[in-house]
This record gives sequence, structure tokens and C-alpha cells, in this order.
Amino acid sequence: MLRLRQSTLFILFNVAFQCITSQSWLKQSNIMSWQLNPQLYLLGAAPKCTAANARLSPLQNAMCTNGGYMDHMSSVNVGLLLALNECNFQFSSNTWNCSSVEMESLLEGIKDVEASKEDAFLHAVTSAGIAHAVARGCASGTISKCSCSKMKRPDDLHNDWVWQGCGDDVSYGYNFASAFVDLREKESNHPKGSEGLALTLMNTHNNEAGRRTVSKDYVVACKCHGVSGSCELKTCWQELSPFRNIGNKLKDNYNIAMQVGFNKDGTGLRNKAKSKRSKRRASKEELIYLKVLPSLCKRKADGSIPDSMVGRRCNTTSTGEDNCDVLCCGRGSEKRTVAIKERCNCVFQWCCFVKCDECIRYEEQDFCV
Ligand SMILES: *[C@@H]1O[C@H](CO)[C@@H](O)[C@H](O)[C@H]1NC(C)=O
Ligand SMILES: *[C@@H]1O[C@H](CO)[C@@H](O)[C@H](O)[C@H]1NC(C)=O
Repeated sequence: MLRLRQSTLFILFNVAFQCITSQSWLKQSNIMSWQLNPQLYLLGAAPKCTAANARLSPLQNAMCTNGGYMDHMSSVNVGLLLALNECNFQFSSNTWNCSSVEMESLLEGIKDVEASKEDAFLHAVTSAGIAHAVARGCASGTISKCSCSKMKRPDDLHNDWVWQGCGDDVSYGYNFASAFVDLREKESNHPKGSEGLALTLMNTHNNEAGRRTVSKDYVVACKCHGVSGSCELKTCWQELSPFRNIGNKLKDNYNIAMQVGFNKDGTGLRNKAKSKRSKRRASKEELIYLKVLPSLCKRKADGSIPDSMVGRRCNTTSTGEDNCDVLCCGRGSEKRTVAIKERCNCVFQWCCFVKCDECIRYEEQDFCV
């Protein structure tokens, strides 16, 4: 009797756990269904290169059309969406908050932040998004050139556990993103010491930093089997880290990005730092940039301060860019009481969802005036 109860409990736990995981998958597939035309697949029609939500360069277009990569484009779309969503999240409390970025332009580079630290982040997060989405596309069966991860069983995996299940093909995602995203940078021959060459070198470096962050950040995920509750049997597979983790790492790298300039013969980039001690080389995962973005608070020709920050939420005690004095360009801030809707009194219902009420909480927040 006791044994039976134990196993029932375990099944319950297992089911609840699956509910949670399937919910997070649901979120992921919501992102996808927004972008994709599901009929494209239901009818067995080949996806088109023009279906990609981005302006492809001539070589990228040729790779897609003639190289047999059309079925990668839905994952490219998902990758761009991940990237843009992450940019908005990571920069929500910065002066430059990513709201000027359009998804269609992500692959070609954004003119108004060109060569800046922000541009470095954008290139890295775009390349990372594509590597991430393609690796997952392999596992979900939408891409014909790849399937489940071919990574070999980790040496330190417990002997009794089974290396099985369909893992994300992280290395395929990395390789595809290298080939596809960087292709654009190989289309023109820029002379030594030119601005074009500097930008090409910068972009290529930051693209690599982004997809490297993805390829290093996978985890081994496992699932318990059996009814005994002791989890004797486990199957494990390779799984990508959630894109939020990648975004956090890239934002950290943005904060410590390195300013670079041409070396003596104008063929490569090097650290611009003056002092010998800080003059190290950028690692392959660090972000590099050429120019500092002009402050969005810069006074206009008539001496007035632009009002573009009016209404932005700020924080009077923060030491970061969201500090009210910084974010409001010195125009001041005010406190407002804001009503926040929240889910509350949540109860688990058999089976399998959580039922919640909606509660309203009032909070004082600071806003730029
Ligand atoms: C982003 O910044 C712009 C300019 O300050 C502002 O108009 C916009 O409301 C901001 N968007 C968000 C989501 O905060
Ligand atoms: C404001 O900034 C402080 C210091 O960084 C932080 O502890 C606090 O959580 C922030 N408040 C909000 C509402 O974000």
C-alpha cells in the first residue's frame, strides 16, 4: 500500500514536471507560430527565401536559393525574433533602448548605431539567435540537412544513464551561423585602412562572439523514468541554454566591450587603450567596437535638451544608466503611483494547469519629465 502511494506520488510529480516543461515549449512555439506560415509545411511546399523576415544580401540569397538552405529560413526568422526580443529586454533601462531597431535590418546592420558598442551587441545577439534557433530546428525536424545532436556521450555521465533522446545540434547551429551570417561581410573588397574594412573586421569578430557564446553554453538535460520514484533510469541529451542566459552574457560583454582601431598597417584591429597594462587583445568572446554612440541627451543646436526621454521609467537610487539624472538628460523626474496587475492565489488543478486570480498592486515609480 505504502509502495503504491509512493509511486502515485512520483507519477504526479513527473506529470507536473512535464506540464512545466511543455509550457515553456509552448512559449517557444508561440514565438514560432507568429512568424511562420504553418501551411508551408502542411502542404509540403518548399519554404521560400523571401519568407525570411530579413533583407538577405546577394550571396546570402544565393546560398538560400541554390545551396539547398531554404528550409533553414524559418529558423533564421525565429533567431531574428529571439535576437530582437532579447535586445529590447536587455536594453530596457538604457538610454538607447533598442526601440529603433527593426527586425528586417538586423542582418544588414543598423545605420544609426553603426560601429558602436550597441552595434557590437546587435551583431552578436543576431548571430547567436540564428545559431540557437537553427540548433533547435535540427532537433525539431524542420531542417533536412541535420537532425538530433551528434555530440558524443559525455565522459562524466553516470554509467547507468542512457545517452539518448533528441538533443539540439549546437555545432550545426554554430557552423550554419558562421557560414550564413558572415557571408555578407565577404561581399566587398575594402582597401587597407578604410572605414569599410574596419567595420567588416568588427562585425565578423562580434558575430563570432555571439555564436561562440551559444555553442559553449549548452547543458546536459536528463529525465527520470520508471515508477519506483528512485529515478534509477535516466535518459540524457544535449540541450541549449535558454536564450535569456545567452542574452545576459552578451549584455555583460557589452558592458566591458573593448574599443579598437586599426593597427599600423591598416589590416587588422587592435585595442585602443593607451596604457600598456590594459593593452591586451580581445578574446574571441569579447565584444569590440570602433566608435562611441553620441549621447541621446546631447543639446540641440538651439541649446535645448531633446525630450525623447520624457515618460521613460527611471530609478533614483540606481548607479547605472537608468539613474534618473542620467536617463532623463538632467530634465528631472517625478514619482507616480502605478497599478500593477499580477497573477495571484494560484492553485494547481488536475490535470494539468494552474488557475490564478488577477490582483492589483499599487507601486510608486519614477518617470522622466
Ligand atoms: C525607448 O526609448 C524611446 C526614446 O526614449 C521611448 O520613446 C520609448 O517609449 C522607449 N521604449 C520603451 C519600451 O521603453
Ligand atoms: C533601483 O536601483 C537599485 C540600486 O541598483 C536597486 O536595488 C533597485 O531594485 C532598483 N529599483 C527598481 C524598481 O528597479
